[in-house]
Amino acid sequence: MSALPRPTPATAARLKTGGDCLRFANKLFKAGGIAHGQGFVTAEEESLTLMGHATGLAWEQLPACFDRPLTAKEKAAFLGLVERRVFDRVPTGYLVGEAWLGGLRFRVDERVIIPRSYFVELIPEAIPRWLPPAAQVTDVADICTGSGCLAILLAKRFPKARVQATDLSAAALEVAALNVADHRLAKRVTLHETDTMTALLQGPKFDLILSNPPYEPEGIYRRLPAEFKREPKGSLVSGQDGLEVIRKLLTQARATLKPHGILVIEVGGLRAAMHRAWPTLPMLWLATADGSDCVCLLHAADLRRALPSPGARRGR
Ligand SMILES: C[S@@+](CC[C@H](N)C(=O)[O-])C[C@H]1O[C@@H](n2cnc3c(N)ncnc32)[C@H](O)[C@@H]1O
Repeated sequence: MSALPRPTPATAARLKTGGDCLRFANKLFKAGGIAHGQGFVTAEEESLTLMGHATGLAWEQLPACFDRPLTAKEKAAFLGLVERRVFDRVPTGYLVGEAWLGGLRFRVDERVIIPRSYFVELIPEAIPRWLPPAAQVTDVADICTGSGCLAILLAKRFPKARVQATDLSAAALEVAALNVADHRLAKRVTLHETDTMTALLQGPKFDLILSNPPYEPEGIYRRLPAEFKREPKGSLVSGQDGLEVIRKLLTQARATLKPHGILVIEVGGLRAAMHRAWPTLPMLWLATADGSDCVCLLHAADLRRALPSPGARRGR
């Protein structure tokens, strides 16, 4: 990265309009090889988002600055953000303090992973198909809630449901609490600081348990681009094989689902590892835009049949 020149005052003086600044940023992002995938897929999306933050313009108003000179303050703010993105590898979501998922705005900072779950595609239609009508879905859990984004999307999709959301990280839950309050859902979304579902074992049983847990094996984490290492490591990594939290979740979901209930888990690249770990457990793989490898649906009855009950002793 040291070979890449930082913008100088002379560079800044050459850039006049919003369009000039955006073209400069896009070039620098490409030359710097920044990694996308934290809520954005292109350099252009990231530069426009930073421009919105620097100018205070909403996304749909941004074209208004393409041909007009930026004020000195706007230009300094934008170039400062671009430098932090390229040279410090701070993800755009953290630079602007927010991320959008499913049409909703969530606050984010270094305490939480930036929302980008495949569940945004599945919560509106695919998952409800496996459940009674939404009005009869009363108990839902979001395990490993992070910013609370999925708990909030679930509460909106199932308006009669109480949503229990858990996370091991007290810091993440502070951000989740802000988001729950922003979306006025404090009466229906309850946050629990606990390991997986431990605090929920004695409570009501669930129609739906959903989780986007950490699932990267330690070895994969080491090779991730620098901006991903700005996110809390506990959001991404789950032991040597990536399955540590999922193992606990399967056992705890077995004990806490209603008879018709379902468990839905995002597992990243672990589809084959899941089948190896639980060869007799029927798994349904839900299709998303990226294929059908990443999200697994399990029925309560199958979990009961295929997993040993927690009290059962070997050899009996
Ligand atoms: C991949 S992030 C998902 C966050 C959020 N659900 C989303 O989709 O953006 C995983 C979250 O799991 C939490 N976590 C890690 N280990 C956990 C455990 N054993 N029990 C509960 N939460 C855990 C992390 O703190 C992190 O917030």
